[in-house]
Amino acid sequence: MKKTVLVTGGAGFIGSHVTVELINAGYDVVVVDNLTNSDGKSLDGVEAITGVRPPFYKVDTCDAVALAKVFEAHHIDCAIHFAAYKAVGESVAEPMKYYMNNMLSFMNLIEAMRRQGGRANVLFSSSATVYGEPDACPVTEASPRKPATSPYGNTKQMAEDVLRDCCAAYDGFYGIALRYFNPVGAHPSALIGELPIGVPNNLVPFITQTAAGIRECLTVFGNDYPTPDGTCLRDFIDVVDLAKAHVSAVDRMTGEKMDTKYEIFNIGTGRPLSVLELISAFESANGVKVNWKFGPRRAGDTTEVWADPTRANKCLGWKAERSIDDTMRSAWAWQKHLDGC
Ligand code: UD1
Repeated sequence: MKKTVLVTGGAGFIGSHVTVELINAGYDVVVVDNLTNSDGKSLDGVEAITGVRPPFYKVDTCDAVALAKVFEAHHIDCAIHFAAYKAVGESVAEPMKYYMNNMLSFMNLIEAMRRQGGRANVLFSSSATVYGEPDACPVTEASPRKPATSPYGNTKQMAEDVLRDCCAAYDGFYGIALRYFNPVGAHPSALIGELPIGVPNNLVPFITQTAAGIRECLTVFGNDYPTPDGTCLRDFIDVVDLAKAHVSAVDRMTGEKMDTKYEIFNIGTGRPLSVLELISAFESANGVKVNWKFGPRRAGDTTEVWADPTRANKCLGWKAERSIDDTMRSAWAWQKHLDGC
């Protein structure tokens, strides 16, 4: 019998890509999203790619009563939680917005899974932000977590801890936290991708908007970092590869193949790229120029962080496969789709 996966935030950037890959892998998917940071069009994209329109509930996961109704309608074999705010700077300015939303929504989901009865499988979308400025790269799952430098980062750490404690305490309760590095790109069909709201904070949407002429010039934050070219090093992971890691994690949970009740996996490529290398990769993959200049360092940026993905490679049987050229082409195709080209 087909298993059912609930995806909160399933209309969003990563959620929509995960929904596609789960459907492609034969899962039934139920999408919950309050559409505050996305629009329903991503579900049109999901349908166009897969031929399946997953059941959708416009529900805020912070609303426990509304969430309970979703559980009355469906038996959920595994829940994946993406429904959270993600702007680092905004979280510093409005911490309670982040603590209330990101924590309450996750705890409501855990409670709903517990109340359902039977085995509960919960997958949490965590972040490499938990490693802060690492002592050494690449980071493994055993690398120490550093004190969070933003409320956003703090919600990732706290949610990991909530999941760990529930797995330790409750029979039949299992959890996986996937720590994403820098998710970028879009589906190769250009039918789903990241919806930029306002001025992008993240590098790749800023690159694509500059190439498209929406922004005049990209500022590269800092050229005096102790790295080969003076700019920061990151592990840019293609969003489709990232989505496939979720399918492997869901297979592992629902197939009851976990080694321990709570597991953590780094989801990255293991390949560091500097900000300048990424800009060059975008330019050469797409044959376009990006207008950029150096500016001062951005507060809170870490010099370098990239993954040792060995654990995910071994236990999940998953590996990042798409080349940076593929990823940069998909990012540009999505930008052109947004611009109606
Ligand atoms: C941030 C978040 C991370 C989140 C990720 C993806 C932190 C500290 N960072 O990572 O949790 O998972 O976004 O949403 O929590 N850059 C420029 N110019 C720009 C924009 C960025 O030079 O206009 C540089 C930055 O200085 C950085 C690199 O590009 O060196 C990547 O930045 P960004 O895409 O914002 O991601 P992170 O800050 O690494």
